[in-house]
Amino acid sequence: MSNTAILEIDGKKYEFPIIVGTENEVAIDIDKLRGETGAITIDPGYKNSGSCKSEITFLDGEKGILRYRGYSIEDLADKSNFLEVSYLLIFGELPTAADLEKFETNIRKYTLVNEEMKNIIDGFPKNAHPMGVLASLTSALTAFNPKSVDVSNEKEMYEAVCKTMGKFLVIATWTYRKNMGYPLNYYDNTKGYVENFMRLMFELPTGPYKIDTKIINALDKLFILHADHEQNCSTSTVRMVGSSHAGLFASISAGVSALWGPLHGGANQAVLEMLEEIQKNGGDADKYLAKAKDKEDPFRLMGFGHRVYKNFDPRAKIIKKAADDVLATLGVNDPVLTIAKKLEEAALQDEYFKSRNLYPNVDFYSGIIYRALGIPTEMFTVLFAIGRLPGWIAQWKEMRLNKEPIGRPRQVYTGSPLREFVKTENR
Ligand code: CMC
Repeated sequence: MSNTAILEIDGKKYEFPIIVGTENEVAIDIDKLRGETGAITIDPGYKNSGSCKSEITFLDGEKGILRYRGYSIEDLADKSNFLEVSYLLIFGELPTAADLEKFETNIRKYTLVNEEMKNIIDGFPKNAHPMGVLASLTSALTAFNPKSVDVSNEKEMYEAVCKTMGKFLVIATWTYRKNMGYPLNYYDNTKGYVENFMRLMFELPTGPYKIDTKIINALDKLFILHADHEQNCSTSTVRMVGSSHAGLFASISAGVSALWGPLHGGANQAVLEMLEEIQKNGGDADKYLAKAKDKEDPFRLMGFGHRVYKNFDPRAKIIKKAADDVLATLGVNDPVLTIAKKLEEAALQDEYFKSRNLYPNVDFYSGIIYRALGIPTEMFTVLFAIGRLPGWIAQWKEMRLNKEPIGRPRQVYTGSPLREFVKTENR
């Protein structure tokens, strides 16, 4: 392949370098486009635009491949654990046993959240959505940690990573405890990270809390599968906000808000709500399939389709199996699951979905597991955020270390040309 691309504007030719990634992805480097030609590109939704070079995650949507730092998602989900994968994403290599122990010990140093944060939580109405509360609490952490981390100082960055991993998990679960009117729990430094999630959520002062290790393993796997997904909406938001040199907590808070939307992480909540609605209306999956295909109807089949996966979402394959295992372990027999199965089978056979390559995505199955574990629907996207946290940190760190410029897209102005101002009395 040629290493330049030629663009012709008004009979004048311009050459632009072609960049080829590790897996032969091809990109035209238009860094000098406006300077040389005066023109810009326009690409709503950035469907064709790469915002950065990155060494973190490789994704091939056509082939259904997802790898973190070169390791396949299948291998990681099968053989690794969430903290190990977090370390891999953030620091670039799998940790040695000593590195991993040190990482976990350091996270534990930061699991106590300032008691004053409770005053902030108390300011929210009881029924506030947990994602809104989580975005605010994450942002509020800046008040208790005002010093911005020096990303080039390895020790400082390491401590900031551990602090973020420790505190975010606790405040994420506090959004639920507040909602339920339960006392806010503390992290137990004698237990593992994922087990702590369940304890922070469900352990009550009134009695012992027992948890099956199979459940912890399933959740651990879910967190791994959500841990990074290259330049998706929330990660791009984290990088964009961080590109103005806003701090780590502020950037992550913005990522939480971006994730909340139903076209992104909020889809896991939307899937369950959709399944419940279908059940309430008689369980007719075909009717909802028809609605999703009707261009006059804004309804979309939640949990189907993906911007980059035009083949099966590899995460969905693993989660589907994990969902089956969890349901078998817990002996769950939920009518909503029967509807999910019917809907999935019908959509996979349907020409509309087949021709548009619309397959179930990660959010279609994750909600089914969360529901079986007794996690309330409004918390589903919070679990996605806990899983995605190491990816956001890794991407923020990479962006700052690469000294990327501030994110500032251009536009094509289509508003009114210059007009003369008319005073109110003359309008
Ligand atoms: N139900 C019905 N039709 C759909 C759906 C759907 N879920 N998704 C896409 N389409 C149709 C869409 O109407 C369009 O049809 P046509 O070509 O006739 O106009 C075609 O498929 C292409 O859709 P698009 O909107 O151009 O695709 P996109 O890449 O911009 O959007 C998406 C991707 C994920 C936003 C979209 O598929 C969607 O809204 N899915 C439902 C929400 C969802 O499950 N989101 C979770 C994504 S996975 C988790 C994550 O990483 O965030």
